[in-house]
Amino acid sequence: MDESGIRKRKESQNGSTDLTKDNKEVVKAIALQKDVGLLSGICLIVGTMIGSGIFISPKSVLLYSGAVGPCLLIWTACGVLSTLGALCYAELGTMITKSGGEYPYLMEAFGSIVAYLYSWTTIMVLKPSSFAIMTLSFAEYASTPFYPGCSPPLIVTKCLAAAAILVITFINCLSVKLASYVQNFFTAAKLLIILVIVGAGIVLLAQGKTENFSNTFDGTATSFGAIGLAFYNGLWAYDGWNQLNFITEELKNPFRNLPLAIVIGIPLVTVCYVLVSVAYFTVMTTTELLLSPAVAVTFGDRVLYPASWIVPLFVVFSTFGSANGSCFTAGRLVYASGREGHMVKILSYINVKRYTPAPALIFNGVLAIFYTIPADINTLINYFSFAQWFFYGLTALALIVMRFTRKDLDRPVKIPVVLAGIMVLVSCYLVLAPIIDKPELAYLYCTIFIFSGLILYYPFVYRKVNWGRKIMRPITMHLQLLMDVAPPEKTD
Ligand code: ARG
Repeated sequence: MDESGIRKRKESQNGSTDLTKDNKEVVKAIALQKDVGLLSGICLIVGTMIGSGIFISPKSVLLYSGAVGPCLLIWTACGVLSTLGALCYAELGTMITKSGGEYPYLMEAFGSIVAYLYSWTTIMVLKPSSFAIMTLSFAEYASTPFYPGCSPPLIVTKCLAAAAILVITFINCLSVKLASYVQNFFTAAKLLIILVIVGAGIVLLAQGKTENFSNTFDGTATSFGAIGLAFYNGLWAYDGWNQLNFITEELKNPFRNLPLAIVIGIPLVTVCYVLVSVAYFTVMTTTELLLSPAVAVTFGDRVLYPASWIVPLFVVFSTFGSANGSCFTAGRLVYASGREGHMVKILSYINVKRYTPAPALIFNGVLAIFYTIPADINTLINYFSFAQWFFYGLTALALIVMRFTRKDLDRPVKIPVVLAGIMVLVSCYLVLAPIIDKPELAYLYCTIFIFSGLILYYPFVYRKVNWGRKIMRPITMHLQLLMDVAPPEKTD
């Protein structure tokens, strides 16, 4: 059956039609629907940003920054930086209302090759590896209670992570609404546990437990590279501030909801993170914090006993929710890139009954499962940030470039261009500092990988070689039948 066949069949199915009040059938176009409102938008940002980072990273931020004072400053600075980045994205997202995060902006500003290299790196590495990292921390916390006194066997955590990837991918393939509900529920859960930690901290501070806040700047790190690494770890906890830009086409009233969700969501997370860090330091000295394998859990053991089990439970919720948000948006990037012909076409197809980009989601899930196999969480985070910040900087540069090259575009949100300038400079620092401080071959491999995308670009995207299409045609057709998907229809 060809595409039109599937479409005709779709029209005769109940699942794809809605009845209006006067019983007229409304056939929805096969396209992603505008299902995401302001609340879900905020939850997508907040719920992806708050994952495991704030419960684990405080240790690394402290390790590299050296003392309580600079540590708190770095947490605040990371929040300001994320807000800055997100403001740039608010302008970009309301100017070019296409899904796919950085992808359409890079395409508009720098052309097809740069956008392609971005989507190549992000789809093949960044998105699935972060999905894997999040589910691995989920698995670690979920399995620990079953192995009292020792750490759970590696095979158990990896299988559990893979199972989580399967479940989340399945939920996202089933329905956009269901995925949003899951996201909203887990976001509420993580805000609740943060409230508990902050509340406990405030009570202790009020009782006069302030001794850890004297001489807060003794031992501050001064090396450029160390501060860069402290930032990397803090920024990992904040990562996800750009999530809403991946689904612009599915937002109801994007001109209002995109900037609003950004302006509400990111400062909210910043306040939460700084207060949580203060709460940690109220209870633990720097040495104790550095010795703790999971800061939030140690906090719970000390302060919340006998209800200390709620902390790991909620970390499990939090990582699951964050992984769900990440999967949601990753699917949209794969979809957008398939639509432009930068990935195989089938990846841009939509399920005709459920209106979800199922092939894109499944592709992302399969890659993520591969990444759970070798993953060592910490090194992955460091390399992840290097490549990620390269693209954040490039996107801020895109904003500046388009102020000159695309003056004609309507900009409902227009930020001072100097903010984008700061963002470019900071990302240069974040990309270069660790490399200069401690050159490692891994960075070179990363760079080689990014450019290796060109090997596929030339024959398949630029030249569109015939035999490539000949091979893909039967595969596409079979997959179409198997997954019940069709190319997206144009909607206004
Ligand atoms: N900030 C999250 C955490 O603390 C990780 C976000 C990963 N990034 C992403 N784009 N999904 O666990």
